[in-house]
Amino acid sequence: MQAEHLLAKNSHVQPAKVNAEDLRQQIRDKYSEVALMPQKGFHFHTGSFLAIMLGYNATLLDGLPSGTVESFAGTGNPFSMGDLKPGEIVLDIGSGAGFDSLIAARQVAPDGRVIGVDMTDAMLEKAAEGARQMGLTNVEFFKGLAEKLPVENGSIDVVISNGVINLCPDKEAVMSEVYRVLKSGGRFQIADIVVQKEVPQSAKDNIDLWSG
Ligand SMILES: C[S@@+](CC[C@H](N)C(=O)[O-])C[C@H]1O[C@@H](n2cnc3c(N)ncnc32)[C@H](O)[C@@H]1O
Repeated sequence: MQAEHLLAKNSHVQPAKVNAEDLRQQIRDKYSEVALMPQKGFHFHTGSFLAIMLGYNATLLDGLPSGTVESFAGTGNPFSMGDLKPGEIVLDIGSGAGFDSLIAARQVAPDGRVIGVDMTDAMLEKAAEGARQMGLTNVEFFKGLAEKLPVENGSIDVVISNGVINLCPDKEAVMSEVYRVLKSGGRFQIADIVVQKEVPQSAKDNIDLWSG
């Protein structure tokens, strides 16, 4: 998707009435477990089984640290929309344990670089450890929110994201941030959850249904 097409408003959609900080804390707790106890078992799939199920070419997984792969928790495959090009600057929103960020860092090397942003410390630590294990020096991970990205205006060629925007109650804020950080003509390659029917307001307002 091109940056210029991101800001169409959908005025009849009511925001969820959940406390954003309470929701973020529930999500941090859940994804800290995915980072620290990936074998625990969750209401969603994780790891290499999930990656293959989502159509990642097995060659993309080659050489990734086992810790990175075991905490993968995406909902699709941002690379199915096209590989990244050497030299590109990439932002991974909600980078988790770094699965897509590390794949991206290899694709854009040697001159390109990747910035991963996530709000969960355990995920950030696991992602940085994965980069260290692979000897990648063109990827960095920062703590931050999708709704307030710690990234300069117009600095990114490609935004990728996998399974994160569905967890953000203020999706317009996320889209505005994506638009702000992308260069003109930049790309947005995301995988996320799309519903075909309108979600009832009562379900949107139930915090327990957001993070499972
Ligand atoms: C479903 S996991 C996906 C992680 C990674 N993209 C992957 O594919 O494995 C969601 C991640 O998004 C992060 N996250 C959720 N809401 C966020 C927000 N508002 N801002 C930043 N990170 C967020 C969580 O901490 C978690 O690491």
